[in-house]
Amino acid sequence: MVILPDGSTWRQVKAMPDKGQPATHPGVQRIREELQRLRAQHLYRTRRVLETPQGVEVRVDGKNLLSFCSNDYLGLANDARVIAAFRDGAERYGAGSGASHLVTGHSVAHHALEAELAAFVGAERALLFSTGYMANLGVATALLDRHGTVFEDKLNHASLIDAARLSGAQVQRYAHGDLARLEALLGTSGNAKLILTDGVFSMDGDVADVARLAALAQQHGAWLLVDDAHGLGVLGAHGRGTLEHFGLRPQAPVMLLGTLGKAFGTFGAFVAGDAELIEYLIQQARTYIYTTALPPAVAEATRASLRIVQEEGWRRDVLNARIAQFRAGATRLGLTLLDSATPIQALILGEAPAAVAASEALRARGILVPAIRPPTVPAGGARLRITFSVQHTAQQVERLLEALALLPRTRSEPA
Ligand SMILES: Cc1ncc(COP(=O)(O)O)c(C=O)c1O
Repeated sequence: MVILPDGSTWRQVKAMPDKGQPATHPGVQRIREELQRLRAQHLYRTRRVLETPQGVEVRVDGKNLLSFCSNDYLGLANDARVIAAFRDGAERYGAGSGASHLVTGHSVAHHALEAELAAFVGAERALLFSTGYMANLGVATALLDRHGTVFEDKLNHASLIDAARLSGAQVQRYAHGDLARLEALLGTSGNAKLILTDGVFSMDGDVADVARLAALAQQHGAWLLVDDAHGLGVLGAHGRGTLEHFGLRPQAPVMLLGTLGKAFGTFGAFVAGDAELIEYLIQQARTYIYTTALPPAVAEATRASLRIVQEEGWRRDVLNARIAQFRAGATRLGLTLLDSATPIQALILGEAPAAVAASEALRARGILVPAIRPPTVPAGGARLRITFSVQHTAQQVERLLEALALLPRTRSEPA
């Protein structure tokens, strides 16, 4: 079998019997035109094929590159202890869970991980979901129907936006961080209310004012879901995330969503909160009920990650030192970054072609930094999204700064 660069295997496909479907189906014509439009607008996305484990030195499409674009902030995706736990878990429980949690897919590995995660974040209970995307959908659809209202920051992650849509509730969006506007909106609506927010905003790296959001939720009888995909493991003295950063815990009206595929280096997600809330999600969250449970081996690997997150606080210290080094260097170069103290650092370049050109110029110098374009970010906000890991050395951060200094100066002020 020959795998072509686009991932297809034409020789095999061509040999299959052809039932004579017309090649000029109108649906095919429509998507062809849409693809052409994306290309013309520099919005066409292509996948890079990673040939090594995740890390800071990777081989992508046959080229060795220094990467500043994973979410593996604590360097655990390829940690020997996590891999060993994964392997042991597979030997003990097999490769797959074989069923959904409510049938027979919920193993002792899942059960133990849920208890350990709840203890870690200071919640009564935690519930595993297969992905963060599904967890967001599950919470919003379980708590609200078309009679309720969702309130969300305009820069929320796509999965929160989709969660609001799928719930069927009325959606009220407020400008990024405009909590005065949120307060006004909360005051005008009755029925069930749910505020959705990123803890650390995934494309800008800034931190939501969760203390004020929690107070508003309390005052207006709303739930608050903090999606801490990028804060968990990274923020707070113990790595418990954005809530810890603000001295809060996941208890009503606050719910925490943590993802496990980023700082924890594995895969999956969980929601943590009051015991009754978790019991309710088990009964009502369709993305929990109607899907296969994570492989138990992934739960075992995550248990190992959790131990490391708790025991090796130096990882956060080193990570913070690299972030500070980068920000000081960028200031010296006159590059204006968005205001962020987290591993996500955004250099705004304006239009999509400028961001693509900058990303390509870095790649030519052996550095991998993705161009992030609309619709992932607002129009005019195309950017380089630079992310840091504890595995970056100080020298590697300097190398990045040297390469950024050589980029043609376009626009680099905050959007
Ligand atoms: C803020 C945020 N929430 C949710 C998700 C989705 O999590 P998962 O990858 O586990 O589906 C992501 C990214 O993947 C994210 O950045």
